[in-house]
Amino acid sequence: MSLQNEYDDNEIVNPSNNLHMNDILAARLSRRQALQGGVGVTATALLGSLSLAACGGSSSATPTPTQTAALLALGFSAVAKNKNDLVTVPDGYQVSILHALGDPIHYGDESWKNNGTETADSYNRRIGDGHDGMYYFGLAEDGKFDANRSDRGLLCVNHEYVVQPYGLHPTGLTAGAARVASEVEKEIYAHGVSVVEVKRGTGMDMAMVRGSKYNRRITSATEMVFSGPAKGNDFLKTKYSTDGTKTRGTNNNCANGYTPWGTYLTCEENWLNVVGRAAADDAKRDTKDVVSLKRYGLPEGRKSPYLWDTAGTEDLFARWTSSVVGATAAEDYRNIANNFGWNVEIDPFNNTSVPVKRTALGRFNHEGAWPAPAVVGQPIVIYQGDDARNEYIYKFVSKALWSASDVNAGLAAGAKYLDEGTLYVAKFNADGTGTWLELTHGKNGLDSTNATYAFANQGDVLINARLAADFLGATKMDRPEWGAVNPLNGEAYMTLTNNSNRIDPAATPTGVQLKPDAANPRYYSDTYTNTDGTTKSNKGNPHGHIIRWKEDGASVAATKFAWDIYLFAAEDGAPADVNLSGLTAVNDFSSPDGLYFDQRGMLWIQTDDGAYTDVTNCMMLAAVPGKVGDGGKATAAGGTATIKGANATPNSVRRFLVGPKDCEITGVAVTPDGKTMFCNVQHPGENGSLAAPSSAWPDSQTVAGSTKRPRSATFVVTRKDGGAIGV
Ligand code: FEO
Ligand code: CA
Ligand code: CA
Repeated sequence: MSLQNEYDDNEIVNPSNNLHMNDILAARLSRRQALQGGVGVTATALLGSLSLAACGGSSSATPTPTQTAALLALGFSAVAKNKNDLVTVPDGYQVSILHALGDPIHYGDESWKNNGTETADSYNRRIGDGHDGMYYFGLAEDGKFDANRSDRGLLCVNHEYVVQPYGLHPTGLTAGAARVASEVEKEIYAHGVSVVEVKRGTGMDMAMVRGSKYNRRITSATEMVFSGPAKGNDFLKTKYSTDGTKTRGTNNNCANGYTPWGTYLTCEENWLNVVGRAAADDAKRDTKDVVSLKRYGLPEGRKSPYLWDTAGTEDLFARWTSSVVGATAAEDYRNIANNFGWNVEIDPFNNTSVPVKRTALGRFNHEGAWPAPAVVGQPIVIYQGDDARNEYIYKFVSKALWSASDVNAGLAAGAKYLDEGTLYVAKFNADGTGTWLELTHGKNGLDSTNATYAFANQGDVLINARLAADFLGATKMDRPEWGAVNPLNGEAYMTLTNNSNRIDPAATPTGVQLKPDAANPRYYSDTYTNTDGTTKSNKGNPHGHIIRWKEDGASVAATKFAWDIYLFAAEDGAPADVNLSGLTAVNDFSSPDGLYFDQRGMLWIQTDDGAYTDVTNCMMLAAVPGKVGDGGKATAAGGTATIKGANATPNSVRRFLVGPKDCEITGVAVTPDGKTMFCNVQHPGENGSLAAPSSAWPDSQTVAGSTKRPRSATFVVTRKDGGAIGV
C-alpha cells in the first residue's frame, strides 16, 4: 500500500459512545430571517444587513456593490466528466502552471530535473509536495496586505504530504525496515507551506516571482512557538522545549484559513502519518496519557506510515516517536504527538516571522479554519473541522472584538484575537436546529472530576478537544473536510466527504459503526467498476454531502443555529432518495472536499473521490447557493428523515473543470476582481508507479504523450477575453 492511501482513508475513527442527535429533542429555533442572503438580493440590503463595510477596514474584503448580485449568475458551458490527463476548463478559458513540486523559488538552485537527484537541503528553497489549501493575499507597493489588490500578491500553499511513488527520490522509496536518512530529510523539507510572490504580466495570467524577498519555505523542521492556553503545558514539553513553549515543524497541512488582519492559517491534519509510538509504552505512562493517545489514534506499538523515526538516531529523525525513553518529558519526545494537530498562524508579509501554533483553537485532525466575515465591534469567529470518520465540527469565538485598525498588525493581531476566546463543538438536532457546546475547563463537567479524562486546566481541554467534545455529546459527522462562509449572508458551509461507517438504521452498530442521523442521513450501497475492471461496492454514505448553517440572530457568536443539507453528492441517475438534490449530468459529483467562497459570493466545490473515478477524474464545480431553509423535509436512502436545501439546477451548480488522472482537486483562490483563479492538483497519477505512471501532468497539459513524472502543482485559470471567471 502506498503512503497516501493510508492517509486518504482517514482510518482513525471516533470510538466514543455519544448520544446521537436524533435521541434528543430540542426546541425549535425561531428562524429569524434577518439575513436575506442569496441570489437576487440587492447590494444595499447585503451591506446594510451585515455591516460588511466594516470588514478589514479600508483594505476591505467586502464585496463592492458591483461585485454582488449582478455578477452572480453562472455563465460558462459545463465541462463534461472525463478521464483525460489534463485540466479541462470551459470553452473560452485557459490554463497555465504556476509552480509544481521541486520548482526552485530562489535563484541558485537548478531547475527540477525529473529524476529525483535534487538534494534534500535544496527543498528548503523548492516548492514542496502535495499542494493543498491555499490563499491569495493582495500585496501593496509598501509591502503590506491590500485585500483589494488583484495584480500582485502573496500566494500561500500547503504542502500536505509526500506523494508516493513519484515524489522526490530517484527510484521511489528505498525498501527496507529502516528508511534512508537522505530520503527522509528530503521528505521533511518537502512538507509544510510555501509563500511566493505572484504577479500579473500583460494579461490576467499570473507567474511566480522567482527570487522575491517574500518567497519562503516553512517545513517540518522550521522552529515555531506555542501560544494561548496550552503554551507551556506539561503535555507539550519535549527534549527540544523543556518548558513546552516551542517545537519544530508543521505537518500534513491540509486545508487552511486566513485572517482579516492579513495572516495565513495552516492546519495540521494527518500528522499520524509521521508520528509513531513504541511497543509496551503504556506501562510507562499514567492513565490520562494512555486515554489521550488512544483517542488520537496512537496506541502503543503503532508504526507511522512514513517511518521517519527509523532513519537514524539524530534528533531530526528520532523525535518522530511519541515514546517514553527518558526519565522525564524533558529528556525524550513522549509528547511529540501533542505538538501537532494545531492551527498555525504565519505572517506571509514578514519573511523572518516565527510561525505560531494557536492552541486556543483546539487540537484534532485539523482540516482547516474558516473565518466568518469580520464585523467591527463583534468577535472574530472561526469554523473548523476534524477530518476523520465520526469526528466533529468546531467554532472558535474570540474574546477581543474586531477593530479594523488591526489590519496589517500581523502576529500581534493574532495574539490579540486568537489566544483568548471560547471553543465550541457542534450538536445538530433532528429538527433543523443546532447548539454550540462550550469546551471550557470548569464548565459542562470538563474538570478534574471527569471520569473519562481528568481535565486539569484549559490547556488540557484544548490538547484533548476530542475527549471534551465526546463528553459533551457532540454530533459525529461523515468526515468534516473543508468549510467556507458565504460573504453575502454569513452562512457557513462544510463538506462531509463520505463515511463508510454509517450502517443500516435497522441494524445494531458495533465498534465504530453509526446509525444515520438527520445531519448525516444517508445509508445505501453503491457498486462501481474500478479502472482495472474489478468492481467494488461502497456502503454507508459513499458520496458525501455538504451541510450548512446560519447562526441564530445577528451575532456570529450565537450559541444556537439553524441548519440544512445544501447538497447531497450523487451520480446522475441514482435513485431519488440517494440523489436527493436532483443532480444531473452537468453537475453530478462525489466526495466533496475543498470548498471556497470567492469575494463575489460564488461557491467553488472540489472533489477527492474514490467512488466515481470509474467515470470521471476529480473535478471542481461552481455554484450560486441559496440559503438555509430554501428547501424542505426529505427522507434519505435508508429511511432517515432530514432537511435539505433547494434542488440543484444547471443554473445553480455547474461543473467548471475536471482534473488530470488519479488526482484530487484541492485548494482554490480567486483574486478580488474575479479575473485570476489559482487551483491545485494534488497527487496526479497516484494509482500508478514509476515503472508504469498513470499520469504525466502537469507536463501533459502542454506536451501530448509526455512521459515526465507527475507532480502536484498550482495552476492558473483565466478567461481568454480577460473577463471575470465563472460568470
Ligand atoms: Fe487532507 Fe481532510 O484531507
Ligand atoms: Ca482535504
Ligand atoms: Ca481529502
